[in-house]
Amino acid sequence: MAPPPPPLLLLLIPFLLSLLSNPAIAKTEIQSDGPQGFISAMISEKGLVFVKDLLIQQALSSLTPLHLPKIQKSIKIPFLGGVHVSLSNITLSQINVSSSVIKPGDTGVVIVASGATANMSMDWRYSYSTWLIPVDISDKGRAFIQVEGMEVGITIKMKNQEGSLKLNLSECGCYLKDISITLDGGASWFYQGLVDAFEGQIISAVENAITKKIKEGIVRLDTFLQELPKEVPVDDIAALNVTFMNDPLLRNSSVGFDINGLFTTVPKVATLNYHLTNSQHSAFCKAPLKMLWISLDEAVLNSASDTYFQAGIMTWTVDKVPEQSLLNTAGWKYIVPQLYKKYPNDDMQLNITSTSPPRILVAPDKIGASVTLDMVIEVLDANEIIPVACLSMDISASGFVEISGNNLAGEAGLDDFTLTLKWSKVGNFHMYLVQTVVRVFLKDVALPYVNSHLKKGFPLPIIRGFTLTDASIACTYSRIVVCSDVVFSDSFNVKRLPRKYW
Ligand SMILES: *[C@@H]1O[C@H](CO)[C@@H](O)[C@H](O)[C@H]1NC(C)=O
Ligand SMILES: *[C@@H]1O[C@H](CO)[C@@H](O)[C@H](O)[C@H]1NC(C)=O
Ligand SMILES: *[C@@H]1O[C@H](CO)[C@@H](O)[C@H](O)[C@H]1NC(C)=O
Ligand SMILES: *[C@@H]1O[C@H](CO)[C@@H](O)[C@H](O)[C@H]1NC(C)=O
Ligand SMILES: *[C@@H]1O[C@H](CO)[C@@H](O)[C@H](O)[C@H]1NC(C)=O
Ligand SMILES: *[C@@H]1O[C@H](CO)[C@@H](O)[C@H](O)[C@H]1NC(C)=O
Ligand SMILES: *[C@@H]1O[C@H](CO)[C@@H](O)[C@H](O)[C@H]1NC(C)=O
Repeated sequence: MAPPPPPLLLLLIPFLLSLLSNPAIAKTEIQSDGPQGFISAMISEKGLVFVKDLLIQQALSSLTPLHLPKIQKSIKIPFLGGVHVSLSNITLSQINVSSSVIKPGDTGVVIVASGATANMSMDWRYSYSTWLIPVDISDKGRAFIQVEGMEVGITIKMKNQEGSLKLNLSECGCYLKDISITLDGGASWFYQGLVDAFEGQIISAVENAITKKIKEGIVRLDTFLQELPKEVPVDDIAALNVTFMNDPLLRNSSVGFDINGLFTTVPKVATLNYHLTNSQHSAFCKAPLKMLWISLDEAVLNSASDTYFQAGIMTWTVDKVPEQSLLNTAGWKYIVPQLYKKYPNDDMQLNITSTSPPRILVAPDKIGASVTLDMVIEVLDANEIIPVACLSMDISASGFVEISGNNLAGEAGLDDFTLTLKWSKVGNFHMYLVQTVVRVFLKDVALPYVNSHLKKGFPLPIIRGFTLTDASIACTYSRIVVCSDVVFSDSFNVKRLPRKYW
C-alpha cells in the first residue's frame, strides 16, 4: 500500500502561494479588475502563522539528516609542515528553530526563521610524514559541531498562472553566526589547525546545502500546486471549478484568493454582487479570530442546481410512502371520485420532476429556495403505467447551512407551496383536499428525502489532509461566509508528492 498522500489545504495552497506575491496586487485595495470568482478565501494572520509553522516543520523534517560533501585539504602546521586532512561523513542531524515570522508584503511573502541551533557530526582523518620520522603518521576520529545563531529567510512570490498558483522563490538565504567544534580524541595542535582552516568552509558548506534544499523544496511545492486539479470532484455529475481567477491579494497580515467556484456547468449569472471587501468579511470572523474564511456566492449553489438539473437527475419516482394507502386509488375515492371509478383498487405511483433548476437566494436572515415541480400521478394497471393527472407545484423552502467535515451541508424546511392541476384524464380534483394530502407528503416524504442529500453536502475546496475545525457560518446578501480554523491530519511530507489532492 502506498503511504497516504500528503494533502494541503487548497486554501493553504493559495496561502502558500500567497507566499509569492505580486507588488502590483498588494497595492490594490479592492478585488482586482479581472474576472471575479464566486468563492473567495482569505487566510488571516492566525492562518498564516499556522501555514508558516507547518512549512517550517515540513522543511526541518526534510532537511535532516543533511549530508555534506567531503572536505579535504593540506594545512600547514608549525614544525610538522604539511598535514593532509579530510573531513567526511559530515552530517547535520538536527535543527531547532527558536523563532520565526511570516509577513506578506509588497515583494512577496517573507518567512524568516531565526535563532536556530543545530548539531552536526563528522569523521576526521589526518596524515603526514616528516624527514624526522620516515613513516606516514595518521590518526582519525569523530568530531561534533554545534551550530549557533542560524538564520534562514525566504521571499516567495505568488502569481496566478493559467488558473493555478505559481510560486517563485525570489530570495533565499541562510546565515550561520557561529560553530563550535569538539574533537573526540586527536591532538591539540590538530584541533587548532582544524578550526582555523576549516571553520569557514564548513559554515559555507552548510549554508549552501540548506539553501539548495530549500530551493528544491519550493520547486516541489510549486509542482504540487501546478498539478493540483482545477476541479474538485463532487460526485458523478458535478465538479467544483477551483480555477484561480486572480493573483493572490496580499495585505499587511492576510492573503486573499479568488476561485471560480462554480459547478462545472456554466450558469446564467446575470450580474455578480461582489460587494464585500476583505475587511467586511473579517467582521464575520472576529471573535475568536479564525485562520481562514471562505466566502461563497449564491451563484455557486445555483450552479450546482443547474448542473444537476441539466444532468436530468432531478426526477424521482415515489412508490412507497409512510401511509401506503395513499398510493392506491381507494385512498383517493373521495378526493378524485373518477379516478377510483376508472381504476378501482389499483396501486399508484408519483413521478416527480423538477421543471426548472431550483433557485437559491442567500439573505442575512435566511437561505431560501424556490422549486417548481410537476407531479404526475400514475396508475399501475395490469403491468401498465398510466399517467392520469399532473399537479404543478411552486414550493418555497428555507433552511440553514452547516459545516460537516470539509463539506458544506444543509437542511431545508417547507415554507409554503401553491398547487395547480396541469392536466387530468380523470376529471376535476377537490384541490383543497389535495392540498392537505400534498402538504403531508412534502413534509413527511419529500423533505426528508431532499435533506438526506443535503446532509452530505458538497466539498469545500480544501486540500487533502486539512480539516476544518470550529467553523462558524454567517449569511449576508447573496453570500455565505465560513470562518474556520484548520487542523492538519494526514502526514504531509514535501519529499513525497500526493497522488490524490482533494
Ligand atoms: C556517518 O555518521 C553517522 C552518524 O552521524 C553514522 O551513523 C554512520 O555510520 C556514519 N557513516 C560512515 C560511513 O561512517
Ligand atoms: C532541540 O530541542 C530538543 C528538545 O527541546 C533538545 O533535546 C535538543 O538537544 C535540541 N537540539 C539542538 C541542536 O539544539
Ligand atoms: C546537540 O549538542 C548539544 C551540545 O553538544 C547536546 O547537549 C545535545 O544533546 C545534542 N543533541 C543531539 C540531538 O545530539
Ligand atoms: C522568478 O522571478 C525571477 C525574478 O524575481 C525571474 O527572473 C524568474 O524567471 C522567475 N522564475 C519563474 C519560474 O517564474
Ligand atoms: C499596512 O502597513 C503599513 C505600514 O506598516 C501601514 O502604513 C498601513 O496603514 C497598513 N495597512 C493596513 C490596511 O493595515
Ligand atoms: C473554470 O473556470 C475558468 C475560469 O473562469 C474557466 O475558464 C473554465 O472554462 C472553467 N472550467 C469549466 C470546466 O467550466
Ligand atoms: C416520469 O415522467 C417523465 C415525463 O414527465 C417521463 O419521461 C418518465 O419516463 C416518467 N418516469 C416514470 C418512471 O414513469
